[in-house]
Amino acid sequence: MTEVVKVIFGRRSVRKYSSKIVPKELLLEILDAARFAPSAHNAQPWRFIVLTETMTKRRLATAMAQAWLLDLKKDGKTCVASESSMEASIERFVKAPVLVVACLTMENMNQFPDRKRQQCEHDLAVQSLGAAIQNMLLIAHAKGLSSCWYCAPVFSKSAVRDALKIPKEVEPQALIVFGYAAEEPTAPQRLPIQGVAFFEEWSKPLQ
Ligand SMILES: Cc1cc2nc3c(=O)[nH]c(=O)nc-3n(C[C@H](O)[C@H](O)[C@H](O)COP(=O)(O)O)c2cc1C
Repeated sequence: MTEVVKVIFGRRSVRKYSSKIVPKELLLEILDAARFAPSAHNAQPWRFIVLTETMTKRRLATAMAQAWLLDLKKDGKTCVASESSMEASIERFVKAPVLVVACLTMENMNQFPDRKRQQCEHDLAVQSLGAAIQNMLLIAHAKGLSSCWYCAPVFSKSAVRDALKIPKEVEPQALIVFGYAAEEPTAPQRLPIQGVAFFEEWSKPLQ
């Protein structure tokens, strides 16, 4: 197997990390890999904030957790268990060696007068950011580092903006945790290829 094939099929999400420090050069390589992802119009609509200091990690984790709790309250679903899982989630992010907040900017994307095409343009930016994030996960794995992609920022955009002084026109979209694994990742669970890929038309399998 070539190296790239091994990396694609070998990467798994890891949610527990050792306290071993991630070298700055490695972090820069990961960010560089993100820059080399394809993007619509080559607009490179990604921006990243790297957090390694306990104080900033705690500020971000607390802001996301509070926003989550507020949403649960709105749903009438808060309880003692949700408070304690909020604490656990904060501690998990604080203890992780590196957090990267992946943000989206529409700055260099096309602008349309109508909402439909503007939404399409936004979708292109989200797809481009996804490609950049995947590049980061893959190079991290290739370099012996583990990672996990978290969706919390997309549900708590204004809290994340306030916590990290992000301008209002920039959208926090994802949080990626990097570090050296302190757990065995779970075995990959994937839908069978026949359930996700069709040939010539929807639902038609390869003969
Ligand atoms: C957009 C996106 C959001 C995700 N959000 C979370 C999350 O909030 N919490 C979490 O534990 N994992 C999250 N994950 C990781 C997935 O759970 C994981 O990729 C999936 O279970 C497949 O496992 P694998 O990455 O080990 O192959 C997310 C992944 C993606 C792509």
